[in-house]
Amino acid sequence: MAFVERVFSGVQPTGNLHLGNYLGAIVNFVKMQETHNCIYCVVDLHALTQPVEVWGGPSELARNTREVTAAFIAAGIDPKKHIVFNQSQVSGHAELAWIFNCVARVGWLNRMTQFKEKAGKDRENASVGLYDYPVLMAADILLYRATHVPVGDDQKQHLELSRDIAQKFNNDFGDSIRGHGFNDGMYFPLPEPFITGPATRVMSLRDGTKKMSKSDASDYSRINLTDDADTIAQKIRKAKTDPEPLPSEEKGLEPRPEADNLVGIYAALSERPKAGVLREFGGGQFSSFKNALVELCVAKLSPIAAEMKRLVADPGHVDAILIEGADRARAIAAETMKATQDIVGFVRKR
Ligand code: TYM
Repeated sequence: MAFVERVFSGVQPTGNLHLGNYLGAIVNFVKMQETHNCIYCVVDLHALTQPVEVWGGPSELARNTREVTAAFIAAGIDPKKHIVFNQSQVSGHAELAWIFNCVARVGWLNRMTQFKEKAGKDRENASVGLYDYPVLMAADILLYRATHVPVGDDQKQHLELSRDIAQKFNNDFGDSIRGHGFNDGMYFPLPEPFITGPATRVMSLRDGTKKMSKSDASDYSRINLTDDADTIAQKIRKAKTDPEPLPSEEKGLEPRPEADNLVGIYAALSERPKAGVLREFGGGQFSSFKNALVELCVAKLSPIAAEMKRLVADPGHVDAILIEGADRARAIAAETMKATQDIVGFVRKR
């Protein structure tokens, strides 16, 4: 069956939304609005998988949910044409996740590298939710039978798991799926990751081998979307580099993770390939490149920060967007849940 193309993606409301989230994911969310029907979700159920100190407790969760929503809109997502909502308002996410829990295999989850990283050494003490997180993520996507998922590089393995779950569901229930009128036996699509651009993996400004992350103890490791111009300038000027001038060709960036990262950020923000950036700055010193990068970052991020500030000052307006978005999401989710219940054999009211 040819599936109707639909985009779904999510961002966790765990604070410190940064340049990696923006360039790796949100920029592509904005672009895909031109060509697809899109659903963008603030995944608050996912936030709970971490210890409460990480997501900050109830009032922080609500504040961060509104802040991520504000970032979506400030970056250019149109909540009228597309759907913006927070996950916990649509109960189908958790319901479908339960069915998928019974489809996914323990061996599949045991391979997830992000669980290993996040659980660290104290695995016994990680929440069951953290372990099960990729199954909920598959449910997020497939509840809307989404076909395309824009994400950063770190979500690639989770997307592969979503495809495995969709495939196994289709195989396990193939006869029933066909019996319900889906003649090719494919009820769920195999969602495609959309990981593209020169900044699919933005690295820490302090260490070019570590991913830029919300949870890094050093605020100097990342540029937050809410940072003001002075803070952005300070962070970029202090960013780790090496003593060599910038290379003139991309190959010269390979053994130099910090230089590669800064050039990638510049390329993504200016919507040019890295090679073009190196044609302009290759052979020059880092100090002048950093000045240009500060200017570009401030020019691109300041209007977003200002609009976010304006939006979060009006929580009633942001909540209304989330409530209206959830109503529209719920209508699509209800169709999928009904068909899934029929396929699985659950008796229900008609
Ligand atoms: P989260 O909230 O950690 O990150 C949101 C998005 O930002 C991307 N990202 C990065 N991209 C480039 N460089 C970085 N340093 C960087 N850090 C983060 C992430 O890849 C992501 O696209 N599991 C997801 C949320 C989620 C989801 C979903 C995504 C839940 N359900 C369904 C897609 C579809 C997560 O934790 O993202």
